[in-house]
Amino acid sequence: MKKVLILNGPNLNLLGKREPGVYGRDSYEAVCGRIAARARELGMEPSFFQSNSEGALIDALHQAMDVYDGVVLNAGAYTHYSYAIRDAIAAIRLPVIEVHLSNIHAREEFRHTSVLAPVCRGQISGFGPVSYLLALQALAEEV
Ligand code: DQA
Repeated sequence: MKKVLILNGPNLNLLGKREPGVYGRDSYEAVCGRIAARARELGMEPSFFQSNSEGALIDALHQAMDVYDGVVLNAGAYTHYSYAIRDAIAAIRLPVIEVHLSNIHAREEFRHTSVLAPVCRGQISGFGPVSYLLALQALAEEV
């Protein structure tokens, strides 16, 4: 069974409470529940980790290397400027799919840039929680 890590970055623990007009009304736990159900349908074993700190996300990526077949990553605002997370993705040689709930290209200009995108397998942005489900499907085909 393919193992997939669902990695969420800063402020995503506040889903449902945080700017619901942008990020939706579903809680982090509810979104994880949907992701887990879809992963099982696809024959994958999901694990979840969320952190508000850059170093913890980098550690999680390093540890993923020998354990998981792929990673679904919503790095939150780190997406736009963390060269350290970018280097970690490049280092681990696992397919990493970048996801965003909102369409980052339709928002403020600083969100239009993803420094992670060039080292990710692909980017899915703008479909709310469905972004994660589409990423799982992509990984299921990939790995
Ligand atoms: C986000 C988009 C980022 O710009 C923002 O900083 C987030 C969430 C999204 O899922 O839409 O925290 O990654």
